[in-house]
Amino acid sequence: MKVLVTYISWTGNTRKIAEAIFQEIQAEKEMKDFGEVKSLDGHDLVFVGFPIHGFGQPSDEAKEFLDKYCASKKTALFVTYSAPEDSPFVPPWLEACKEIAKGTQLIGLRDFQGQIPLEQVDVMLQSTGPKALEIARMVVHSSIGQPDASRLERARAFTREIMEKAKI
Ligand SMILES: Cc1cc2nc3c(=O)[nH]c(=O)nc-3n(C[C@H](O)[C@H](O)[C@H](O)COP(=O)(O)O)c2cc1C
Repeated sequence: MKVLVTYISWTGNTRKIAEAIFQEIQAEKEMKDFGEVKSLDGHDLVFVGFPIHGFGQPSDEAKEFLDKYCASKKTALFVTYSAPEDSPFVPPWLEACKEIAKGTQLIGLRDFQGQIPLEQVDVMLQSTGPKALEIARMVVHSSIGQPDASRLERARAFTREIMEKAKI
């Protein structure tokens, strides 16, 4: 029984969640970024992590990865984004994540706030209108320092749930 934790991460937020998940797995395990994966033969369960990019869409690389390697595999997705987790924008983003994993045996999905990159702050600050600026302010303030210790603990709890579900 072998578990792979794989992820794509530009600024390190998704990687931090991946590391917390990896540490919690009590089974034969490997951790690789997407680029290091050549095949998933022999893996019974794959944790797949990626950020939300481009106005609520899963990063393009995530769809490519799931299509190329994860067909019919047991998968558990972990996703990071900068909006607060209770934001009304988030549920459709998670639906989009489930959609790109529909060719896999998806057994779980968990989402985590991650600190917004500075270049995205610049993009948000170029938005016009008081509402856009209010959202920018809220995202910047709430996302600094994320994922924090409580989110890493949630990632470990998610791992235990998934391992139980996958019966590994
Ligand atoms: C090009 C780009 C687009 C993004 N779009 C969104 C978005 O639509 N909603 C959101 O909440 N965060 C968005 N973010 C923030 C990232 O999802 C967030 O910082 C994530 O935790 C980054 O993960 P990483 O550090 O693993 O790369 C965007 C970031 C980038 C760089």
